[in-house]
Amino acid sequence: KDKSKITIAVDGHSSCGKSTVAKAIAKELSLIYIDTGAMYRAVTLFALRKGLVTEGKVDEEGLAACMDDIKVEFRKNEAGGLDTYLNGENVEKEIRQIVVSSHVSAVSSLAFVRKRLVSLQQEMGRSGGVILDGRDIGTVVFPNADLKIFMTASPEIRAERRYKEMIAKGDKVSLEEILENVKARDHADSTRKESPLVKADDAVVLDNSNLDPQGQMDWIMDRLRERNLI
Ligand code: DC
Repeated sequence: KDKSKITIAVDGHSSCGKSTVAKAIAKELSLIYIDTGAMYRAVTLFALRKGLVTEGKVDEEGLAACMDDIKVEFRKNEAGGLDTYLNGENVEKEIRQIVVSSHVSAVSSLAFVRKRLVSLQQEMGRSGGVILDGRDIGTVVFPNADLKIFMTASPEIRAERRYKEMIAKGDKVSLEEILENVKARDHADSTRKESPLVKADDAVVLDNSNLDPQGQMDWIMDRLRERNLI
């Protein structure tokens, strides 16, 4: 197998650092990093702007009718990373706001939304050389991925990490609010009917409650070496 063409799936709970570690691995191995959560967030932002989602309820018919008008893509930014674009507009910052976080579970539970985004993700990763993070990468999007990682950490630790991140960005949020959001999303993501968050049988579990980014990176590089993928 051409080692530059491997596919790595990173699934797991929200706010456990999937994107940080996936980005670091992508850089190390020259893989393309695909943030699938950003795609669900972009569709949620579209729905919010059009008034198609309120109080966790989605106007399903309305949103279904708009799906062809929603174009989500990634473009390189100056720092060499990728920013998320919604219909040509850079929405990278806006999709991380708490209003989007609070509504994204409702939008991402819809079968027609998932169907569209899953096929887009499969298209983006078709030639390999990719690392994707999400909830259903190892189970649905790329069930034949070369390495599947299931990441987790305690809700309190995850809430604290996200809280620090948001405070550093100048957002006005409380730790309680973040913890509630983390728990609510865990529950929604794991119990939804469409592609719930479950560990793939052949995924390796990485609990990073007590591991720093370098420790996580080393752990994953070891798993890749074991499998003769690097
Ligand atoms: O990874 P994230 O927190 O940015 O993801 C945002 C939301 O999108 C999360 O609540 C679950 C959903 N999601 C999903 O259903 N499937 C994916 N592959 C990625 C994210």
